[in-house]
Amino acid sequence: MTNGRITKVALGEGGPQVGVQGLGCMGMSFAYGPSDAGESRATLERALELGVTLYDTADAYGAGENETFLSPFFKAHRDEVVIATKFALSIPADDPTRRIIRNDPPYIRAAVEASLRRLDVETIDLYYMHRRDPDVPIEESVGTMAELVREGKVKHLGLSEVTGDELRAAQAVHPIAAVQSEWSLFSRDIEAGVVPAARELGVALVPYSPLGRGFLTGSFSNAEKDLTDQDFRRTMPRFTGDNAAANRALLEPVRTVAEAHGASPGQIALAWVQQQARVHDLPVVPIPGTRRPSRVEENVAATRIVLTDEELALLEPIAAKVAGDRYPDMSFTSAGRE
Ligand SMILES: NC(=O)c1ccc[n+]([C@@H]2O[C@H](COP(=O)([O-])OP(=O)(O)OC[C@H]3O[C@@H](n4cnc5c(N)ncnc54)[C@H](OP(=O)(O)O)[C@@H]3O)[C@@H](O)[C@H]2O)c1
Repeated sequence: MTNGRITKVALGEGGPQVGVQGLGCMGMSFAYGPSDAGESRATLERALELGVTLYDTADAYGAGENETFLSPFFKAHRDEVVIATKFALSIPADDPTRRIIRNDPPYIRAAVEASLRRLDVETIDLYYMHRRDPDVPIEESVGTMAELVREGKVKHLGLSEVTGDELRAAQAVHPIAAVQSEWSLFSRDIEAGVVPAARELGVALVPYSPLGRGFLTGSFSNAEKDLTDQDFRRTMPRFTGDNAAANRALLEPVRTVAEAHGASPGQIALAWVQQQARVHDLPVVPIPGTRRPSRVEENVAATRIVLTDEELALLEPIAAKVAGDRYPDMSFTSAGRE
């Protein structure tokens, strides 16, 4: 940190400079139950004051609602923020449990225009493919994304939940700044193929759900008992029933390390993700999601915590013991295709 602001890092070779921690904005409009718009706006402003510059959204978050919500903040601070959004995923209004994934060129072209319109900006700084549609060759999709860069609609390209091989094929078409995939003390499947490929290619990692969707903070223990009816986490295998109880017990070493640092368990979870940059020798910019200014302060402060090798060793066994998959359907994830 310098002057209370977090340090900056290049998001991949040739990518933008961003604060070493970003902000996930999904929960402000989608997936995690009711939000207070005023508090969410205060969270965005506080994050910026603390040096957070990478703001993460997607067209799928509330069927465009999240992009529309963020637009006034982005416009007020256009030169200070790096806007990241995504295409490929939609959820039909008449069936919220269904996921439609499209990667074909006409879809990408329509999606970028819709996102630019909702965000009300000239250019998206970082445009991700949110999910892979294996029926469309990745070279074809990234070819269209590269055209968007040439046309000035998009500055940098990213991919989410791709395999190491998919990343290599994409990078052969156009430089990829970042891969955004789930990475936390509970979710380490990307370390097998994706992380080594990213390091080799000079691509940054943007870990999503670095707090294990809040579970690693201890703020909820069982999604069915503790969260509201509309909360997406009630459908996630590791947060319900016997799995939730077993996973709760895995947090003990996180609490031990937290006490040693006078920190919260969530801060230790974030410090662990941040330190994967050193462990794996690549840029890592986690995007914890929150809708509360006090939590953004707490999360940003975690960038100052350095874990010892002994502490990393104590936390090492956790992920292998987690009960339940990351999603009800893992075929949409990189691990489901590797
Ligand atoms: N590419 C993808 O497929 C994908 C998938 C999921 C998410 N994402 C992106 O990644 C971002 C982050 O992931 P996420 O939101 O799923 O999970 P997360 O960052 O691991 O956890 C967010 C949850 O933790 C709570 N929280 C945050 N800071 C806290 C603190 N200091 N103390 C206690 N609780 C705290 C939040 O509650 P409050 O909001 O109430 O503070 C929220 O419920 C999302 O916003 C989204 O932009 C991308």
